[in-house]
Amino acid sequence: MTRTVYVNGEYLPETEAKVSIFDRGFLMADAVYEVTSVLDGKLIDFEGHAVRLKRSLDELDMSEPCTKEELLEIHRKLVELNGIDEGLVYLQVSRGSDGDRDFVFPSADTPPTLVLFTQNKPGLADNPAARKGAKIISIEDIRWGRRDIKTVQLLYPSMGKMMAKKAGCDDAWLVEDGFVTEGTSNNAYFVKAGKIVTRPLSNNILHGITRKAVMRLAKEAQMEVEERLFTIDEAKAADEAFTTSASAFVMPVVEIDGVALGDGTPGPIARRLREIYLDEARKTAI
Ligand code: PDD
Repeated sequence: MTRTVYVNGEYLPETEAKVSIFDRGFLMADAVYEVTSVLDGKLIDFEGHAVRLKRSLDELDMSEPCTKEELLEIHRKLVELNGIDEGLVYLQVSRGSDGDRDFVFPSADTPPTLVLFTQNKPGLADNPAARKGAKIISIEDIRWGRRDIKTVQLLYPSMGKMMAKKAGCDDAWLVEDGFVTEGTSNNAYFVKAGKIVTRPLSNNILHGITRKAVMRLAKEAQMEVEERLFTIDEAKAADEAFTTSASAFVMPVVEIDGVALGDGTPGPIARRLREIYLDEARKTAI
């Protein structure tokens, strides 16, 4: 079925949607994005994604393409038009184009390009991969220094996923100066003796919307959470590990660099957090 997508004020069949070849998102990766999940036809944590989008735009001196209320309406309309029960809404804002290639930013009145599309993912919540758990490899983090801004510079994360696939694994965790930063497209955690450990927020990692919710829910459930730097060896010696993201929620990790964690199956804390998170996400979806 042809999807209906959104481009700069218009709802169009995906085959008819067009963006200029001079768009700075295309030429310079001069664009930011958000991925919002959909459960039961409703948006999960729209507010969090809208706030982070505004922050990414501000950090890059990019203008807002429309108001938050308009963004919500576009999200909802696309979900409805495409009949999405479980899936994702992808949103991208680029600095637009003034019709040529130039390293210098175009003038501030150049309209940004706003593109949104849906991805239908039946079984996103009841994901068999979450029952099995993910196997990960560790690789060096060679991304740029402002990972807190959600830009579309995703070549290295993509390469990381491919390295993982080649190694017969599902994903990669990135390591910088000996410490784990995050996963290719998720935040990283390990659990030892009941305590959840994850890296503190900084410019070195994306400030995950799911991370924020999961940390709050973990504390509310009287779980112990510690934010500190950690090494891949600590994670390998952990009882369990997991990742969080809008596209996979809480995903148990069962193996790191060929070393099985615990008994090599999803751990009880990761499973419980996935359950609690999905439960609350459904209740607060809009
Ligand atoms: N990725 N870290 C990185 C590098 C990410 O790309 C993502 C999200 C996260 C988790 O953030 P959140 O909980 O807000 O989704 C952490 C999205 C899902 C993606 O690129 O598809």
